[in-house]
Amino acid sequence: MTDGFDLLLTGAMAVTPAGVARADLGVRAGRIAAIGTLAGAKAERVMDLAGLTILPGVIDSQVHLREPGLEYKEDLATGTAAAALGGVTAVCEMPNTKPSTLTAEAIADKLARAHGRAWTDHAFFIGAAVENIPQLAALERLPGCAGVKVFMGSSTGSLLVDGEDALAGVLASGFRRVAVHCEDEARLKERFALVADGAEPEMHPEWRDARTAFLATERLLRLARAAGRRVHVLHVTTAEEMELLARNKDLATVEVTPQHLTLSAPDCYRRLGTLAQMNPPVRGEEHRQALWRAVEQGVVDVIGSDHAPHTREEKARPYPQSPSGMTGVQTLVPVMLDHVAAGRLSLERFVDLTSAGPARTYGMAGKGRIAVGYDADFTVVDLKARRKISHLWIASKCGWTPYDGMKVTGWPIATIIRGSVVMQDDELQGDPQGQPLRFGESLPRG
Ligand code: DOR
Repeated sequence: MTDGFDLLLTGAMAVTPAGVARADLGVRAGRIAAIGTLAGAKAERVMDLAGLTILPGVIDSQVHLREPGLEYKEDLATGTAAAALGGVTAVCEMPNTKPSTLTAEAIADKLARAHGRAWTDHAFFIGAAVENIPQLAALERLPGCAGVKVFMGSSTGSLLVDGEDALAGVLASGFRRVAVHCEDEARLKERFALVADGAEPEMHPEWRDARTAFLATERLLRLARAAGRRVHVLHVTTAEEMELLARNKDLATVEVTPQHLTLSAPDCYRRLGTLAQMNPPVRGEEHRQALWRAVEQGVVDVIGSDHAPHTREEKARPYPQSPSGMTGVQTLVPVMLDHVAAGRLSLERFVDLTSAGPARTYGMAGKGRIAVGYDADFTVVDLKARRKISHLWIASKCGWTPYDGMKVTGWPIATIIRGSVVMQDDELQGDPQGQPLRFGESLPRG
């Protein structure tokens, strides 16, 4: 049966597992019901998307949405509104809120706060800390939990798993892929003297140097190998780590961010000052080129934004008192589509990194591809639209982007989540209806 759809998308190109081709998409009860030539089929709503391209919904699997405790920077409503405006259909949120997300109650609290306020689908990471290691195996299976997140080096907030025994303990507790921020805490402390009395922001990648990242990634892989545990190395920034990770692909998946692929030192620090400050840092051109090579060679599995909003006032503090992090959830799609337009990656590879990749890495159910039976999550884009990114467009509470003034080719035109149009032509539509993501490990029974 091909008629009686709730929503019918016609006239567009679609990126399906078969490739990029003209295809109409029929949606019923929030799921993809048919793909093909569906002209004339009955539907409650028909959207003519001629000239546009339909991608599987873009999943941003690394965002910091700051609720609870830091709502002056961002909250679940504003952060997910920014996501939807940027063409993102689902987010995985990091645990360095206040309090940190360390317990079943904290996950339940975030899910309750997201209900009726989140514009996109969502899941929350449980933070690993010495005190919750014995509970991690149970916590990672909670519905709505994206998995366990480890900070090996101090960044924003107090979450830290320092020392081999603690990290080995985390890796031994549970079986889902563990997401890890790799910077070596001892070396960070030792080198802080370089900037402690004040320095130019371009010293950030000197303090938190390439060796700091490499040492942590090397230790993580050694301990993960010993434990037989799969890991996901977040925001990888160096050529050396990419070489090591390429030799450990049976164990490790790899994320890069649009910032590390787009900005480079020292230029970004001279132009943007502390707005370009994040952890791990944006580095020099040779590392940026190595990240692109790793994208080309398939070493990278996921692009995540590491959306980490801080207010302009906070960012205006003298370095290094200024906090690390940039907004990114809203700019991920246009910035990366601009790379597609420039020929640096194919549209299919973009989809692999932003839809299939996150779904595969974390074991999401029903997400990540345009296929019958999957959730009807679509990022509709105009690959030819020329736009300028500006602070004014940014819906994040902190109201700024490192890409202000950047001209891009490629723009999100609509965000569709489980068959509901959530954003069209830069405007949010309807009410927030985001739902928790489902994972293979914790699917409801019965
Ligand atoms: O730059 C960063 N900011 N890196 C992180 O790991 C944390 C993030 C934040 O939460 O601000």
